[in-house]
Amino acid sequence: MTEHRPAVDIRWYTADDHAEWCRALDVGFLRLPSRENHEAVLEYRRRWVDPDRTMGAFDGPRCVATFNSQPQVLTVPGGATLVASGVTNVTVTSTHRRRGLLSRMMARELDRCRERGEPLAILDAAEYGIYGRYGYGPATSMVNFEVDVHRAALGSYAPPANGRLDLVDPAEFGKHAPEVHERFRLARHGVIARKAIWWQLVTGELVHPLKQWKDAFHVLYRNDSGQVDGFLTYHVEDEWADHRPQGVLHVQDLIGATPEAEAELWRYAVSVDWVAKVVAENRPPDDILPLLLGDARSARRTAAGDFLWLRPLDVPRLLSERTYGVADTLVLEVHDHMGYAQGRFLLDGGPDGATCAATTREPDLVLEVGTLGNLYLGDESTVRLAAVGRIEASDREALSRADVMFRTGRRPWCPDSF
Ligand SMILES: CC(C)(COP(=O)(O)OP(=O)(O)OC[C@H]1O[C@@H](n2cnc3c(N)ncnc32)[C@H](O)[C@@H]1OP(=O)(O)O)[C@@H](O)C(=O)NCCC(=O)NCCS
Repeated sequence: MTEHRPAVDIRWYTADDHAEWCRALDVGFLRLPSRENHEAVLEYRRRWVDPDRTMGAFDGPRCVATFNSQPQVLTVPGGATLVASGVTNVTVTSTHRRRGLLSRMMARELDRCRERGEPLAILDAAEYGIYGRYGYGPATSMVNFEVDVHRAALGSYAPPANGRLDLVDPAEFGKHAPEVHERFRLARHGVIARKAIWWQLVTGELVHPLKQWKDAFHVLYRNDSGQVDGFLTYHVEDEWADHRPQGVLHVQDLIGATPEAEAELWRYAVSVDWVAKVVAENRPPDDILPLLLGDARSARRTAAGDFLWLRPLDVPRLLSERTYGVADTLVLEVHDHMGYAQGRFLLDGGPDGATCAATTREPDLVLEVGTLGNLYLGDESTVRLAAVGRIEASDREALSRADVMFRTGRRPWCPDSF
């Protein structure tokens, strides 16, 4: 029988591919390619395309799949940072799905990660079922909140006992927020560094050519010595019903470099006049918000799920870069059908640091590489994973020891998509 399908060629992007690659990206994400402002859109997107980290699949001249990565700096438990390959812009055009194009692109990318010396890859998965097969595991979780302000039993609002809050314009915000975020991200595992472009988009210095710029309210929290320790960005839907205000305040970003800053910004957000509901998305699963309310149940969790997925590549490097809850040793046997993370490793770690190297000792725990991704930032329990057969342990005591080592006081949180 004649083969009617010519081979689809996967190759690294060149500048000549840009327009076609962007068209395929839109189609893959079910967006009709825009004819309006076409050149400006292409120019805007060039900022995100690093030719060495971008590939496309081509069926003749037609681009039918896109794949891209960016270096992302991730904080791990204990405060060390690692450069991860942040995979993004993954699409395969509907007519070319389920022929292995994603699998081919992913294999190329993971090989490149190893060549570049990146010890892990991370991504934010559109659907749960896509990336486990490539050795990724869900490593952080998220929660969306809706606060019914009238049920929150807040008491009367008082300005902060320590420090102060100021509403500022975007220029003032842009002067302080990046530095606050730097301190915050080094203190919270799971967070990724924000690039300059992030702040340009928030402050309106850079605007997507197809979007209309909409400003937001920006609040800074300063401590008693005048240092800015936190910020809040929000917008409000001004609604009224029966002659009464029913505004909805949407928290776009609430970041505290100290617990005081975080608490004061939340107290402010839930007590703005005319606001009946506060909506906050992609918050950490252990957010302090409910604990600040007289009635914690008024902060309803409207969605919860996995967020950042993590694919270990260099196990000794990963495990030796984080700290652990208690000082102990463990032998982990990691299975990886793609080969990168396969092996048996002796971890000797504690609150002050760790070492990890290949070993021939008998394993305490046997697990798949994606399960290690699941555990790495401290969001999962080894006992829970063993209960569903994802970890095999030499004995129950080894499982409990691993649990105490890997879990962290605050849960990891990745506030940003990329
Ligand atoms: C998700 C997507 C990239 C998959 O591309 P693809 O080329 O069809 O994937 P492959 O053919 O390489 O599939 C490899 C395997 O993954 C499975 N798979 C692919 N997409 C899946 C999905 N959404 N859910 C569950 N399994 C999926 C395939 O069935 C196949 O399984 P098999 O190896 O057991 O046969 C593509 O469907 C797509 O572009 N979807 C819309 C955009 C999107 O969600 N992108 C991801 C953004 S994070």
